[in-house]
Amino acid sequence: MTTAATEAHPVPTADWVTIPDLYRNPYPIYQKLRAESPVHWVPAVNRYMVTSYQACHVIEQDQERFSADETNSLMKRAMGHSMLRKDDPEHDVDRKSYGNVLRPKAIKEHWNAIFQANSDKYLAQLKAAGSGADFVWDYAAPYAAENLRLIMGFHNASQEDMQRWSQTMIDGTGNYADDPEVWAKSEQSYNEVDDAIDEILPYLRKNPDSSLLSGMTSMPIPLEAIRANMKMTIGGGLNEPRDVLGTTVWALLDNPDQLAQVLADEALYARAFEESVRWVAPIGMYPREVTGDTVLEGVQLPAGARLGIVVGAANRDPAVFEDPESFNINREKKPHLAFGGGNHFCAGAWVARASVAQIAMPQVFRELPNLRLDPDNAPVDAGWVFRGMTKMPVLWG
Ligand code: HEM
Repeated sequence: MTTAATEAHPVPTADWVTIPDLYRNPYPIYQKLRAESPVHWVPAVNRYMVTSYQACHVIEQDQERFSADETNSLMKRAMGHSMLRKDDPEHDVDRKSYGNVLRPKAIKEHWNAIFQANSDKYLAQLKAAGSGADFVWDYAAPYAAENLRLIMGFHNASQEDMQRWSQTMIDGTGNYADDPEVWAKSEQSYNEVDDAIDEILPYLRKNPDSSLLSGMTSMPIPLEAIRANMKMTIGGGLNEPRDVLGTTVWALLDNPDQLAQVLADEALYARAFEESVRWVAPIGMYPREVTGDTVLEGVQLPAGARLGIVVGAANRDPAVFEDPESFNINREKKPHLAFGGGNHFCAGAWVARASVAQIAMPQVFRELPNLRLDPDNAPVDAGWVFRGMTKMPVLWG
């Protein structure tokens, strides 16, 4: 809802917010910000941070006032100009080039069997290693990376390449300190991905399959756009399924009553997944830019203002969610914003749900009896632009 400009008030500044604090645990900061105003100017982040559910929702639905095509975007430098940084109608052309590859029918008919084979493979490796491992790095990460490699059609790369490309280009996207070493690694991945695409497209033209890159060969879309969209999807389609898997397993192990519920009824893994991405949004913040002087939820914003849409905060807004700080699979169902909204709503949401909630989570708890956190080696959750488990030692048997 837009308030008349006359009733609007200026944006408060939150100069007490620091990046290390956000990285460690952003939620107490979000509580304080949201209670004061839906939007703040945050000098440490060099952005206006939008933390209320309603304000984030308004922005997602209004690309005329809030553009995804950010000026001086680091993501454009790190990955090229992908659909994620375009508005319609340009965005729509790129989005349509993904066809039906990531949609429920293709997942059911084709991808689920591949996700299952990958989960079998990485769980077998985990079990062969003994009775303890790091759940994120020894299972969730290779599983998510191998799924994405095959969905995208990178038959000339390994899952390790996918992990390295994803992390180094994400680091470039967040390289506000302009660290030359970070740019060097990011640019190397940029070039490697371009080379891999150039190599695989002719092969896929002759040997078509169900992958995204194969679909691109018959789409009227320039190579530059294919390259940028592929890089963005490597950056946006790997860490998130990995992180939701880690966070959900951690949350269930920490809440034995809820774990007992999902063990008794596997259909509840779908609820655990949705509650997990509400509770800890794997992508906690993404950018938009204000196209002209405007008022958002009673707050004045100048043309050109760079916004951070903090869905990690919106998803814990007490105006929408009761007892928002707790993980509760039995809470009243309400739409969260973890997959974004409007025209940029996550293209991979069905892939994430199928690969994580339908396949990986039930199998993990079925095949690793008495799965538990290692009492002598505490897990670590961290991050705010991206948030997940950075360390998660587990034991079983
Ligand atoms: C739990 C897992 C995931 C989460 C939480 C997530 C979250 C998001 C969010 C918040 C956006 C919108 C960002 C913005 O508007 O700036 C987005 C867009 C996107 N996501 Fe995901 N994502 C996940 C998994 C995936 C996967 C597995 C893939 C690919 C297989 C994928 C592909 C994409 C693409 C292509 C877009 C761009 C859509 C567009 O601009 O139209 N995502 N995702």
